[in-house]
Order: sequence, then structure tokens, then C-alpha cells
Amino acid sequence: MKNKLTFACFLALFGWCACKETPYQHGKIMYTNFCENCHMADGSGLKGIIPPLAKADFLQKNKEAVPCIIRAGMKGEITVGGQTYHTEMVGIPKLTEFEITNIINYIHTSWGNNLPPVKHPDVRTWLKRCEKNTKPF
Ligand code: HEC
Repeated sequence: MKNKLTFACFLALFGWCACKETPYQHGKIMYTNFCENCHMADGSGLKGIIPPLAKADFLQKNKEAVPCIIRAGMKGEITVGGQTYHTEMVGIPKLTEFEITNIINYIHTSWGNNLPPVKHPDVRTWLKRCEKNTKPF
């Protein structure tokens, strides 16, 4: 009995440690593969050319548009953190709803961002809107 208890404690502690690093490991891997080249490993972007995702006000104000940006890309002028950007981002249509959800949740909880997680059914709804209206902006 005592052994079992020790083991349970060990498992709980292990789980807690593993989660602490980032609860969105899969999103992190997807981010590294598909976004990091442009938006950088620390989400800082490239001033004047590629907008940041770290502490970006745009993310907070346009959360429903973000899945569509990832899938369909975006062009046109936008302002992020007081700086204007006007470079086209090409969409990544092969990413699934789950992958997009995981990437967003990784971004929402990284580099000082503290935004609430998005749920898969919401992402699905927002993406449906995007498919009807091919130009999100
Ligand atoms: C080839 C470079 C490139 C890649 C790869 C890329 N982006 Fe972008 N992204 C851009 C550019 C450039 C813009 C600005 C578009 C504009 O000016 O209209 C942008 C804009 C954005 C925006 C809106 C502005 C902001 O800063 O909040 C979000 C959100 C975003 N990208 C997320 C992602 C995510 C998530 C990925 C990976 C799935 C990704 N991007 C991959 C270049 C890229």
C-alpha cells in the first residue's frame, strides 16, 4: 500500500514537471516546423517586415481571424504593436483543425503571452467562416 502511494506521488510529480515546461508540446513542434522561420523562435518577428506574435495586440483583438490567417494566409497592411506591416504571409492549407488549435494554444501561452486557450470546436467554426469569405481582411 505504501509503495503504491509513493508510486502515485512520483507519477503526479512527474506529470506536473512534464506539463510545466509547456502544456502544448505538439503546438510547439508544429510552430518550429511551420512558423519559426518567419516569426522567430521567440515570437519576435522581424521589425517592419514580419509582425511579432510575442505580446502582440493583434492576436488578442483578432483571435477569431487567426485560424484563417494560418490556413489561408494574409496580405494587406496591418498594425501590430504600433508598427505597420505590409508583407504577404502565404497560408498553410495542409494544417488540420487540431494542428491549428495546438499551434494557437502554444502561441497564447508563450513568450510572455497570457491569452486564454482556444477550443477545437471554436476553431472549426472560425475556419468555416474563413472558407466562405476567402479574404479575411
Ligand atoms: C514565410 C513567412 C511566414 C510564415 C512561415 C508564417 N508567417 Fe505569419 N505572417 C507573416 C507575415 C509577413 C505577416 C504579415 C502579413 C501582412 O502584413 O499582411 C504574418 C502575419 C501573421 C499573423 C497576424 C499578425 C500578428 O503578428 O499577430 C499571425 C497571427 C501569424 N502570422 C501567425 C503565423 C503562424 C501561427 C504561422 C505558422 C503556422 C505563421 N504565421 C507562418 C509571415 C509568415
